[in-house]
Amino acid sequence: MNPYDETAPAPEERIVGAAAEGDDQAVEAALRPKDLGEFIGQEKVRQQLDLVLRAARQRGATADHVLLSGAPGLGKTTLSMIIAAEMNAPIRITSGPAIQHAGDLAAILSSLQEGEILFLDEIHRMSRPAEEMLYMAMEDFRVDVIVGKGPGATAIPLDLPPFTLVGATTRAGLLPPPLRDRFGFTAHMEFYGPRELERVVVRSAGLLDVEIDPAGAAEIAGRSRGTPRIANRLLRRVRDYAQVKADGVVTREIAATALGVYEVDGRGLDRLDRAVLEALLKLFGGGPVGLSTLAVAVGEERETVEEVAEPFLVREGLLARTPRGRVATPAAWAHLGLVPPQVAGPVPGADQAGSGQQGLFGS
Ligand SMILES: Nc1ncnc2c1ncn2[C@@H]1O[C@H](COP(=O)(O)OP(=O)(O)O)[C@@H](O)[C@H]1O
Ligand SMILES: [Mg+2]
Repeated sequence: MNPYDETAPAPEERIVGAAAEGDDQAVEAALRPKDLGEFIGQEKVRQQLDLVLRAARQRGATADHVLLSGAPGLGKTTLSMIIAAEMNAPIRITSGPAIQHAGDLAAILSSLQEGEILFLDEIHRMSRPAEEMLYMAMEDFRVDVIVGKGPGATAIPLDLPPFTLVGATTRAGLLPPPLRDRFGFTAHMEFYGPRELERVVVRSAGLLDVEIDPAGAAEIAGRSRGTPRIANRLLRRVRDYAQVKADGVVTREIAATALGVYEVDGRGLDRLDRAVLEALLKLFGGGPVGLSTLAVAVGEERETVEEVAEPFLVREGLLARTPRGRVATPAAWAHLGLVPPQVAGPVPGADQAGSGQQGLFGS
């Protein structure tokens, strides 16, 4: 296994998983917006990037290095291709984990054409020696190629043509500051709002030749966890259902029923998310309860609950992580249609919430 691998455990393919899996990659190529005008949402990023690229074009220069940060499925790879298209430049695609040795990077860098876009996905997972080589390449368009080994090794400087590095990362915080500082422009991608996701769904439906009404698109958007990749995947599953069970037209009812079959609820929670929430509410009165106890209750590994289920539940304001354990928010009770116990004090993070059970279930 790659020592830089730190991806969250994925015990099974999730229909609401944000990483590309299964047939995603093949379909995604067809659904990718081709230029900035087609790219939906992320207004700030689009505006800023438009200026950066326009200015470079006017100067007849290569654009500054660009860092794209954000959760999986928000459009980083898509934007890198758009940058190449807007600059009318070729693009070379590689990733941090694919570059094991500095020599691998030297080979790529020295074969770049002038103005080429080098897309380095998962840039936070590059090895240290490669990273250090990249510093010089980004700043001075130069690499030192080491020839020989041991005390007799010599560094031969090699000039590179000017190029634009586009780095993508889900963890901007993990990038060493010297690397981060060498990017002229950093774009942070946010989760998409429901209106934007609706537009993503309608656009993709058009490209896939799926007939959909606005309410159907809204229904899929609402279950997509703020993530275009998930929206596109849910659309494909709904399309299957509409084709097999109905007349092919995606309405609100068809979308809701289809996604019910796949156990994705109205808010985008899947079976695991709901199991965690349900255990927290029904078995532990809303908490606080320790992570390990909660994991045992749903029959999953601790890491699975923590890294696969919880981030979205926290982001949705359904669950809070407190020093004394996991606590459900009022929204969690409402979402599962349950009534919180009378004594419940102010949640989240309230120390008295569920304190009667502390001795039994706390950790
Ligand atoms: N702003 C957007 N507008 C339309 N489609 C988008 C947008 N962002 C992402 N997508 C779609 O979502 C899918 C995943 O995008 P991708 O760029 O691969 O995400 P990332 O590289 O950040 O994981 C692609 O099929 C792409 O077409
Ligand atoms: Mg990507």
